Amino acid sequence: MFRCQRLSGDTVPWGHEEGVGLKVLVAGGGGREHSLAIALVASPTVAEVHLCPGNAGTSLIATNHDISADDVDAVISLAEQLNVDLVVVGPEAPLVNGLADILRQRGIACFGPDADNAMLEGSKLRAKQAMSNNDVPTAEYQILRSDSDIDSALDAYSNHPWVVKRDVLAGGKGVVVTTDRHEAREAILAAIESDGEVLLEAFLSGEEASMLVMMDESAFVCLPASQDHKRLGDGDSGPNTGGMGAYAPAPVFTDEVRRKTIERIVKPMHEDLRNSENPYRGVLYVGLMIDSESDPYVVEFNVRFGDPECQITLPLIETDLAQHLFAAAQGRLAEEEVRFLDSHCLTVVLAAEGYPGTVVKGRRISGIGLRSQDGEHSSASWINHAGTAFVDGELVSTGGRVLSATGMAPSLREACEAAYHLIAKIELEGSQHRSDIGYRAL
Ligand code: AMP
Ligand code: GLY
Repeated sequence: MFRCQRLSGDTVPWGHEEGVGLKVLVAGGGGREHSLAIALVASPTVAEVHLCPGNAGTSLIATNHDISADDVDAVISLAEQLNVDLVVVGPEAPLVNGLADILRQRGIACFGPDADNAMLEGSKLRAKQAMSNNDVPTAEYQILRSDSDIDSALDAYSNHPWVVKRDVLAGGKGVVVTTDRHEAREAILAAIESDGEVLLEAFLSGEEASMLVMMDESAFVCLPASQDHKRLGDGDSGPNTGGMGAYAPAPVFTDEVRRKTIERIVKPMHEDLRNSENPYRGVLYVGLMIDSESDPYVVEFNVRFGDPECQITLPLIETDLAQHLFAAAQGRLAEEEVRFLDSHCLTVVLAAEGYPGTVVKGRRISGIGLRSQDGEHSSASWINHAGTAFVDGELVSTGGRVLSATGMAPSLREACEAAYHLIAKIELEGSQHRSDIGYRAL
């Protein structure tokens, strides 16, 4: 499954004294960042792992600092104060706000793109323009800026559901897909009023999958493709969420789909991004719709690891993640050999009462074997904490997606059973989780 495109013989000097061990700061506090921390703590080349702000799970294996990942100035001060070798940025907002740019200016290696490249996620229009410049397959679209454009645009895309996309960072809530003309119209009007413009996109049908691609100017590495479950309810019903579960590798991502994705999407985007003013150093999340002809189309780009895709992709990396991230942050990913395990991984998210709307927080969580979360996830299942904290020694919920139970096994079915076995033990009043994660593949 290894894909590494070596493009340049040039290497950036190894900036770290061998044998001393890396000091790493992870910005963020969700399940994604817990999975990063687990992998980093397990690395033989890492000496210290810090998180800002982290969560209850990360506090058991690393050092948390009470600083929001969105507070760019405070994260930079912390990185300098701790004298870290590497900062790994979880969420997109600090990237769009220039965290990586400033860290690099201060001589600190950062895994995460600069603000300009982060606009691939920060602006849907920018992503569309990049795709068009690089002949990358995606849905057609129109930009609407005035009320008078709306009806003709709705007519032009009327034989399928309408896809309305805001052109701002909306935390996963900027897209409306609907067959209700009135709802589409209202979404367009609201977006024009708040943002000045909005995209109306042609509907793509098929099956969704996503691929995380680590890259820098020297190389790209495609990680095993995954499938996320965005809807709250079983059978992909109910409202959209940040993701209720995921699994990898996704069988819909056949060798043919992989080949087409690399040739038509990853290579041209990488060629563009490695030659941008500041070469892209981080992970590009390629969200895809795969049609009945096995042709992939880009639905979205994100400039970070997906959550929960990260939780089920990192465990499939056999080699040293810390070294891969550090190398990419320094522009020498081509030096790395990245290998994957022949395994399957699946995670089931446990969300708080009310999610994805207003959630009930501060409830006690029980049933988790806390001591088993020691970074050694060679066992078949473990918990990725997300919205959790210790309050007066008790584990309580602090967010919408509270945690996820992750299983890993030689088959997807066994990974699924391991994850569900674990989640069945957890008690959190009012909590919700899907009972059918992985059903498309199983
Ligand atoms: P995005 O934030 O762009 O990933 O959109 C959120 C979700 O809306 C995607 O995961 C898809 O399920 C759906 N979606 C977005 N764009 C399209 C499209 N052009 N056709 C069909 N579904 C889409
Ligand atoms: N799970 C989708 C995302 O991270 O954007």
